[in-house]
Amino acid sequence: MESGANRFGVGLLGHGTVGAAFAGLLPRHAERIERLTGLRPELAGILTRSSGSFDDLLERSELIVELIGGIDPAREWVLRAIEAGRHVVTANRQLLSRHGKELWEAARANGVQLRFEGAVAGVVPVIRVIQESLAGASIDRVHGIVNGTTNFILTEMARTGMTFGQALAEAQRLGYAEADPTEDVSGSDAAAKMAILARLAFDTPVHLDQVRYEGIEQIQPDDLEYARELGLELKLIGTAERIDGGLSVRVHPAFLYPGHPLATVSGPFNAVTVESPEITEVTMSGPGAGGTQTASAVLGDVISAMIPPASTPPTSSRLEIVTDVVSAFYLHLEVADEPGVLAQVAQVLAAQRVSVKSVVQKGLGDQARLVMVLHPVLESRFAAAIERIAGLEVLRAPPRAIRVLEEEFA
Ligand SMILES: NC(=O)c1ccc[n+]([C@@H]2O[C@H](COP(=O)([O-])OP(=O)(O)OC[C@H]3O[C@@H](n4cnc5c(N)ncnc54)[C@H](OP(=O)(O)O)[C@@H]3O)[C@@H](O)[C@H]2O)c1
Repeated sequence: MESGANRFGVGLLGHGTVGAAFAGLLPRHAERIERLTGLRPELAGILTRSSGSFDDLLERSELIVELIGGIDPAREWVLRAIEAGRHVVTANRQLLSRHGKELWEAARANGVQLRFEGAVAGVVPVIRVIQESLAGASIDRVHGIVNGTTNFILTEMARTGMTFGQALAEAQRLGYAEADPTEDVSGSDAAAKMAILARLAFDTPVHLDQVRYEGIEQIQPDDLEYARELGLELKLIGTAERIDGGLSVRVHPAFLYPGHPLATVSGPFNAVTVESPEITEVTMSGPGAGGTQTASAVLGDVISAMIPPASTPPTSSRLEIVTDVVSAFYLHLEVADEPGVLAQVAQVLAAQRVSVKSVVQKGLGDQARLVMVLHPVLESRFAAAIERIAGLEVLRAPPRAIRVLEEEFA
């Protein structure tokens, strides 16, 4: 490490969307940070594919900022930095949701900080709030809209009647979706973020593979039309909650009733609600991802790391992962326009003890549909019913199901 009375070397891995924004932000705030911490942060160097050496950078840095993304070589470099006694700040949710246990354990063992506010919900300071402000509360549930791209697409579909493909193209045109949007629209990006949030909120290591997720590619304009008729909002919701002494972590589209704290979050915004008996609930919202926003969250982490004491989340396994939970469903069936169809469907549902809250028959001829809302049921039971329904000859297309969050608000 270079000497210099109060110099604090920050080594930057990656100079892309977030890295370049961070490199611009750090010098502009250096003086203020020096007043705050007594240490003056300086860029010790920048590593990209074409320039810089990791060993040189490590030598000249007190803290490493990892903004290259992906697993390799990010994992190796983060581990090497930690083992060399350097603090690490990262915005890499894929890395944390797959290798978080190993990385947090290494950080603990080496007495350094591993910070990652930029990895979860853009500038919404949800990590800090869960880790620090709510450290004294026992959390029952964390609910969130943690992917701005899908929230923008669903908002546009509801607002304009566009198809999924049209709204995705609009998101790409406006820079809210990447050229390859798979991670966002499949729900896997949100799943990685929920794995990180679940670990923090419940002191339980959660691997991305333990998060069940569904995306929004299958959502049709008429699902949103139906939602509008009932005054419901459709969102891609991530949930981590205590269930039967265990922990369920999942991501799926869900209809929300008006008044739900997440129902009004629209466009490329993120929001997270934390529920606990001590505090009832806290909802935080703000812009989701974006180069400048994420760089600002990363800089916040750098400043926090400059002010000890370290706080690295524990990785002790506390809760078993629960995979089967109770949910209410909206069910959309394109059916033959003939007598007895409803009875056949009802019979299959009844056999799995799935009860119907409401049913509407819509359209005639080759437009005939049954749109149902079902009472809460164990998801495995619902899946069994759907499998049987999909096999009925009277079905003209595969069944479409979307969960409904049952809570109603005044
Ligand atoms: N973009 C966002 O809005 C956003 C929001 C939240 C979190 N994040 C996370 O922030 C991280 C960075 O995202 P980004 O959008 O800034 O990525 P990006 O624009 O693709 O930039 C990646 C940078 O890392 C460098 N890099 C990649 N692989 C490398 C390797 N093997 N060796 C050396 N350098 C390498 C690239 O070098 P070259 O310049 O030589 O190609 C580039 O400078 C990711 O983990 C992402 O998930 C991004």
